[in-house]
Amino acid sequence: MTVITSASRMPAGLNLEVRNIKFELSEQLSKDWLDNDPFKTAFFNALSMSFPAGERFFIDSVRHYQDEVKDPKLKKEMSRFFGQEGMHSREHRKYNQELCDLRGYSREKMEGRTEKLIRRGEKKMPRKAQLAATCGVEHLTAVLADKILNGWMLSDVAPQIRSLWQWHSAEELEHKSVAFDVYIDVGGNYKARKLTMRLFTINFLFDLLANTTYMLRQDEKLWKWSTLKSGFEFLFAKGGVLREMRADYLKYFTPDFHPWDDDNRHLLESWHAPKTA
Ligand SMILES: [Fe+2]
Ligand SMILES: [Fe+2]
Repeated sequence: MTVITSASRMPAGLNLEVRNIKFELSEQLSKDWLDNDPFKTAFFNALSMSFPAGERFFIDSVRHYQDEVKDPKLKKEMSRFFGQEGMHSREHRKYNQELCDLRGYSREKMEGRTEKLIRRGEKKMPRKAQLAATCGVEHLTAVLADKILNGWMLSDVAPQIRSLWQWHSAEELEHKSVAFDVYIDVGGNYKARKLTMRLFTINFLFDLLANTTYMLRQDEKLWKWSTLKSGFEFLFAKGGVLREMRADYLKYFTPDFHPWDDDNRHLLESWHAPKTA
């Protein structure tokens, strides 16, 4: 008897949708839009700065294996993954440009920092390790997306900017297994997956904090007691980013991990997609 197995382990019935959505954010980006808190706002703005280069890298590392993947279901998911990440990249580039125009930051400096980090990885790492790194960062974004859709941190921010972060989060959840399933299908192993996750987590965190402190310094808010206190609490306290994400982050380090072990489709069902352009 022949057993037909699919390389895609995305739950049946979940269809990736590429939503062409445009956001108008200038009013919110001109101020400290997250709880009127300079540190938290700068941290999320720094996340946005990392996306254009990061998402270009995710797309390239998966696209490299396009011909090797034979499963039609996974092939279709890959093409939707490229579409979704492409839209995220477009909207975050616009976000970043507007933010820098309004607040006098250098977009080239901040996006360039991530670009440099990624170029270094592309130069030094074999293709499969690059794909492993993409799986790791996709897990990180999926964990963050789960928190955001659960109401963590952004529930009280102005509707337009909340809508952008929720849209990005929902699509990160939808496509969270695509790079991973490609990695397994092309023979990726556990050891490289573990190693690249460790490497990228550290580099990514430094990249984020470097851009966060750059923006705070530009605003002359870095060395204020209130900023340092808020930064410490945001990073390390209960309800802060590291403690909030830790348990789900660590699940990635089990040998039989799969992104859909955590079935959070209910978050997608309760999310309302904004109108497409
Ligand atoms: Fe994305
Ligand atoms: Fe993604």
